[in-house]
Amino acid sequence: MEMIRCEELMKTYGSGTGAVHAVDGISLSFEQGSFTAVTGKSGSGKSTLLHLLSGLDRPTSGKVIYQDNNLFQYNDNQLSVLRRRRFGFVFQAYNLVRELTAQENILLPVMLDNRKPDEAYLKRLVEMLDIDERLSHLPGALSGGQQQRVCIARALANKPSILFADEPTGNLDGKTGREVLTLMRTVSSELGITMILVTHDLGVAEQADRIIRLEDGRVAEDSGKGAI
Ligand SMILES: Nc1ncnc2c1ncn2[C@@H]1O[C@H](COP(=O)(O)OP(=O)(O)OP(=O)(O)O)[C@@H](O)[C@H]1O
Ligand SMILES: [Mg+2]
Repeated sequence: MEMIRCEELMKTYGSGTGAVHAVDGISLSFEQGSFTAVTGKSGSGKSTLLHLLSGLDRPTSGKVIYQDNNLFQYNDNQLSVLRRRRFGFVFQAYNLVRELTAQENILLPVMLDNRKPDEAYLKRLVEMLDIDERLSHLPGALSGGQQQRVCIARALANKPSILFADEPTGNLDGKTGREVLTLMRTVSSELGITMILVTHDLGVAEQADRIIRLEDGRVAEDSGKGAI
């Protein structure tokens, strides 16, 4: 079953001769529960594509279809509510609130939504990510790998249908990065979450079910069946 797709997606910065087509007519479909890695050289449009797919940014033209609706038909407020409830994000920079404990950081998206946390689910999540002993610590007292695992728990706290990650292991050493990625993958697959991950680390990409390589804002290679 399809989880999300984009049609003829374009994002152009600037105009005239200085125009940059960061994403230049991309159409892709992502299956529910699949794990896709998006690779390509620096500047090939990976982050731009991820920001468009996740509704963080609006395209110059084209659509992103999620549950039969184009994301960009919603206003900014509707879009941010949908993102908070349905999508999870993990970025390269940890983006944790320094003044809040790991536990408070993880609960933040649930609290922002005025919802009651699913205690049993969160307990399982932090155990799977092996941060259950670190929950009362401030981010500054955690290692890079632990901070990134807290970010992953935060991204998954609302039980998103899609987890978007942009170079989530970019700040970690190779071994820790692979461990964090393996965890992300295990947790997502156990929870049936669709994962779309940007990385220029080919070792990381090889753990995915499908690899999409971008070149100059276009799909240069796609190992999966989701091409449309
Ligand atoms: N806000 C912006 N204004 C102008 N140009 C932009 C902007 N954001 C991105 N670009 C340009 O769009 C192109 C794609 O950028 P993008 O950040 O998507 O690349 P990337 O593949 O994620 O690169 P990296 O691996 O370095 O993160 C680049 O040429 C970049 O300079
Ligand atoms: Mg990028």
